[in-house]
This record gives sequence, C-alpha cells and structure tokens, in this order.
Amino acid sequence: MKVNKAVFPVAGLGTRFLPATKAQPKEMLPVVDKPLIQYAVEEAYSAGIRQMIFVNGRNKRAIPDHFDTAYELEHELEVAGKQDLLDLVHSIKPDDMECIYIRQSRALGLGHAVLCAQSVIVNEPFAVLLADDLMVGQPSIMKQMVEQFEEWQASILAVQEVPAEHTRRYGIVAGTAINDRIMDLTHIVEKPAPEVAPSRLGVAGRYILTPGVFKEITNLPRGVGGEIQLTDGIASLMRREKVFAYRYEGQRYDCGSKEGFLQANVELALAHPELGPGFRSYLKTLAL
Ligand code: UTP
Repeated sequence: MKVNKAVFPVAGLGTRFLPATKAQPKEMLPVVDKPLIQYAVEEAYSAGIRQMIFVNGRNKRAIPDHFDTAYELEHELEVAGKQDLLDLVHSIKPDDMECIYIRQSRALGLGHAVLCAQSVIVNEPFAVLLADDLMVGQPSIMKQMVEQFEEWQASILAVQEVPAEHTRRYGIVAGTAINDRIMDLTHIVEKPAPEVAPSRLGVAGRYILTPGVFKEITNLPRGVGGEIQLTDGIASLMRREKVFAYRYEGQRYDCGSKEGFLQANVELALAHPELGPGFRSYLKTLAL
C-alpha cells in the first residue's frame, strides 16, 4: 500500500490567534514569505503525495484561491516580463498535484474534520498534516514517515519529547520501543495532566492513518473540550490494529500559538538564503 492522499484539516476557528484569524484562516498566516498551508502542502508533495484534500470551514476562501490560477496576476507578470515571479506563482500548484475541497460546516473537532474526508479516501492509507505545526527536516518529516509506513504498513504518528509541564497541549503516547525511533503503541491520551500522562512523548501534527480509523471515529462520543477527537479514534484503532509512533528528525514550530509563530519567523528568516545575512545583522543591532 502506498500513501497517495493527504488531508489538511483547516476548518478550526484559530481562537488562540485572534484577532489575526477573525476573517482569515490561521493556515494562511505567512512565515517569512509563504503561508503555513503552503509549507505543509510542499512537505506532502516532497513525500510523493499528489492528492491534497483540504477540509475547509467558513472564512477559508483564501486557501482555495491560493492554490488556484490567479489569472490577472499571471497576465500582469507576463506582460511585465517578470518570468521569475511568474514561475514562483506557478510553482504553488504543480501540474501533477490535485486539490480537493471538502466543507466541515461546524468545527466539531479534529476527528470530525478527518472523518469529513472519508468519501474521498474510501479504503486506502492517508496522511494528515496540521499546517499550524510547521515542520522543518531534511528529508521532510512526511517523507520520513512515508518511508516508515512502507516498512511497517500500519498507522504512524509523529512524536517528540515535550516538557512535563506541556503534556496538556498534546496527545501523549506510550508503548514498547522497537528501535531508537519507532515505538509500538499501547496507549494514547488527549491532553493529560502531567501527573497522569503515560509518558512525555507528544504527538506532533503529522499522521499516516489506515482507513480503519474512520469506523472508529464514527462510533466516538464527544471527547476533551466537547470535540470529536482524532486521538480517541486512534486509541480505538489501537485495539484492532498496530499503531506506531515515530520520533521524527527535525524541528517543529507550533504556529497555532503566537510564541511559536514568532520563533518560526525569526529562525526561518535567519536561514533564508537572501534575507538571512541582513536580518542577522539587524538582530545584532537590537542588543537584546
Ligand atoms: P487546533 O485546536 O489547533 O485548531 O486544531 P483551532 O481550533 O483552529 O485552534 P484554537 O485552539 O482555536 O486556536 C488543529 C487543527 O485541526 C483543525 C484546525 O484548523 C487545525 O489545523 N481543525 C480543528 C479542524 O479542521 N476542524 C475542527 O473542528 C477543529
């Protein structure tokens, strides 16, 4: 089985990022010069995935527009002979990439958002990428995960060690280590208090799931925060199928929070080939 499809749940309300997210999706917030959603789509594309499924909500028109043809802009760039900018605009959606949009009419939770993609996915393994987790790795985190999937042919969750005082922000997993990076999971709990967390391994916003998860989500009651939680669906799936955690190699920025978003902007600007040197000199002048 091969992973050909990726789901991007982008229907959340983004309340932690108000007022910026009042009329625009948080996934369109730019880090340096690119919106978060484009980083996530490029990550999936680099892993060989070609069908991108966006689970959209209200106020999300900007996302389909971003991946659509911008006729007037392209015409103007062509007339002005700005070929490099035209190539940049075209590269947002390569010709062999397909974009599919599904509406989640009420933000009932991440599990519910993933369930909304069932009719397009039907019966094959698929990736889930939460664009507000900006992941930087070489190779990309999703490529690392697809390689693991090819070996294990089972659901895989990206995990990282998190500080004990942050377990309430994550799904936390526990299980048996198979090697340095792979763990055969026995437990997953959504946002536990540090005292009851089964480990300090938190799930980052990258998953490869088998289609069996849809049936589990369908049968779920509301979970933490009154939402239909993906974590609870995965916990049920674990009783029927193997689920692995994968400690990815790379860096994650929590761009759903203002602090993580600022860190991502500073670090990616410093690493930017054109902007980096000037920005570094500028930061030095701040004498913090
Ligand atoms: P978050 O909980 O981080 O997103 O969900 P949120 O609800 O938008 O953020 P806050 O907490 O109010 O600031 C993780 C991902 O799941 C999507 C979000 O868009 C985000 O990418 N999501 C969440 C949905 O698509 N639908 C939902 O019902 C909930």
